[in-house]
Amino acid sequence: MVTTRTPLIAGNWKMNLDHLQAIAFVQKLAWSLKDAKHDFSSVEAVVFPPATDLRSVQTLLDADKLELGLGAQDLSSHDSGAYTGEISGAFLRALDVQYVLVGHSERRTLHSEGDDVVASKVAAAHRHGLVPMICVGETAADLEEHGPSAVPVAQLRASLAEVPADAEIVVAYEPVWAIGSGQAATPEQAQQVCAALRQALVEIAGPERAATTRVLYGGSVKSSNIASFLREPDVDGALVGGASLDVAEFTSIVRFRSHVGV
Ligand code: 13P
Repeated sequence: MVTTRTPLIAGNWKMNLDHLQAIAFVQKLAWSLKDAKHDFSSVEAVVFPPATDLRSVQTLLDADKLELGLGAQDLSSHDSGAYTGEISGAFLRALDVQYVLVGHSERRTLHSEGDDVVASKVAAAHRHGLVPMICVGETAADLEEHGPSAVPVAQLRASLAEVPADAEIVVAYEPVWAIGSGQAATPEQAQQVCAALRQALVEIAGPERAATTRVLYGGSVKSSNIASFLREPDVDGALVGGASLDVAEFTSIVRFRSHVGV
């Protein structure tokens, strides 16, 4: 792994844990990481709770000076106004949210968010000082029809249409067929696509930006396979769903360096 990119382990809770459960969970997670003597400067850990939990988690992180990052699962492409049910990036920023997921496959498929919506949400995140974690990934049918990298690379290019080339982003490669299926990509598959995404970043934003941008893998990541992904040169971390809801499991994933042979 290239040492200039601090590995990032992100926990996407999806629609799980209300704000009271979130407080208990984050307290336990902070203790667990401290107990395990985790060195926070060597691996960045970020949780992405539901929107209704953000204020509670922010207050807790702030009061106890916990070294966990905070991310949101979605934002509006608009800044304010008559958009019932939407959440502005400005509001997230006011809660000290640092990251926001954009383009997750569940938003793309269940909420019909196409490349144009994703691009405008990436632009909104950038406008409000949030780092968009741009999720890209192919379905099993895409993989069969177009091969491994074409769809994720096209999604990444489209997502960056409305931001300057030097905008800070994180990219998360999540093959749709690997999400929640228990069937993760192989480390070689993840490396191949993450390398293609980085090459696209070289072309879009230049070699320097590409060399410092974190590209994560997501899809059935757990403590038993995390180390094999992080051994790959272009995989800089993981976006974790189900396994991020278990304190011991998530702690073990964050502490992937303590696993044998990394
Ligand atoms: P799982 O880790 O449960 O496969 O979910 C991955 C995901 O969608 C994270 O955003």
